[in-house]
Amino acid sequence: MKETKLAFIADTHYFSPSLADEGRAYYLRSGSDQKCLLETGAILDAAFAELAKSDAEAVLIAGDVSNDGERVCHEELREKLYALQKEKPVYLITATHDWCSDENPRRFEGNAVYHDVPVMRADELRDFYFDFGPKQAGSEFITDIGTCSFTVDVGENVRILALNDDKNEKNWAGFTPAHYAWIEAQIKQAAADGKVLIGMEHHLLMPHVHPMITGVGSTCVGDREEVASRFADMGLKYMFVGHSHIQGVSAFTSDANNTITQVNIGSLVGYPAPIVYVAVTDEGLKLDVEPLKSFTYKGEEIDAQSYLAHHATALIDRLVEGAALTKPEFVERLCAMGLKGENFEKLYYPLHPIARLYFKATAKTVYRLLCVLGCGDCIPQEALAKYKDKPLQEFVGETWLSILDAHGKGVDDPDYYKLVLGVANALVRLKRCKLTLDLRDALNNILLGDSFKDAVI
Ligand SMILES: [Fe+2]
Ligand SMILES: [Fe+2]
Repeated sequence: MKETKLAFIADTHYFSPSLADEGRAYYLRSGSDQKCLLETGAILDAAFAELAKSDAEAVLIAGDVSNDGERVCHEELREKLYALQKEKPVYLITATHDWCSDENPRRFEGNAVYHDVPVMRADELRDFYFDFGPKQAGSEFITDIGTCSFTVDVGENVRILALNDDKNEKNWAGFTPAHYAWIEAQIKQAAADGKVLIGMEHHLLMPHVHPMITGVGSTCVGDREEVASRFADMGLKYMFVGHSHIQGVSAFTSDANNTITQVNIGSLVGYPAPIVYVAVTDEGLKLDVEPLKSFTYKGEEIDAQSYLAHHATALIDRLVEGAALTKPEFVERLCAMGLKGENFEKLYYPLHPIARLYFKATAKTVYRLLCVLGCGDCIPQEALAKYKDKPLQEFVGETWLSILDAHGKGVDDPDYYKLVLGVANALVRLKRCKLTLDLRDALNNILLGDSFKDAVI
């Protein structure tokens, strides 16, 4: 079979510079998000330049293309997509952020946030992005909210099944019965046509890292095991997804022993800004993840990985810093994250002393605290000696980055693994409950990472 090379990206969340000055309101908003906002144009320009010169035969985008459904974001993004399309075919699906499902598009001026931004309706998106899928589609399905799913052929042997999973009949992410019927027909048709069929949708089919991280809320489609089983039993083998902004590969096997593999693509505008290249070969799909190296912002060449890593970890630091400062500051920073800060007011008092300690604490501080609590013996001494002066803030930041990029720090150094897992063991000893057991499992998985880079699926 002739090899076909594809490039997948996700969650481009393009944010128009017309929606923000750089006042306090924007500073709070930007500081409360793992992904970038004003920098997105520059990041996309750099990534699209990489894609244009790559050997990928098509670029696939797995939804949440705009920041939050703002019309101006869609309009400016589409210009960039048209420029890229001059070099490569580009196909995209939209997702909930593209029609502003949370009704939260905002613009930021000085200290003020305004909610008067014109938005794109869901039923406008199919025509607006007609040139990026519907126009080239072999088959198309219009969903109940007016968006579309479609199939498109790439190279000689590959067919993309691009699915819009915004709503099932229970109003969760997923598919209606009519949509399933169309999907099943496409899977059968691809088999009859001798095509390797590759699915793409926005929401996850299955959690990875740990269900407490990617299995909560609306991260996955509704009734996820049923949907994953259904797809696997229909004969679909691959699904590329976005949404979580966390990358990783996972697999699900149905009761009938059919397996579907999910590739979760991280956000292109947040750490680690991945482009996932896929070579479709006789041996399967070979993945190659290329994190963005650099972009030019405000005339300056930026090291993308350190800039985006800092932006992502600053999110945690700013939140903890808020709790270390005053109650109004803590509440304001939670509100900037889109949470109802007032509901968490009571947490300020227990968190305040912990937050103050957080920035000063090292591994040794945590060890001493655990000794006072009677579980210092959970911490291996050799591992502690190696890391005793390392700030707690660094451990937390590295753990967050390991979630996002699926690279396990514990694989690099067994002592690092033993030390962090020792703390998790101590927590379980202090209070054995679902939360601490889940936390320990999650940390174990984070520390070990997964073999996303260079995987063959
Ligand atoms: Fe997203
Ligand atoms: Fe999303």
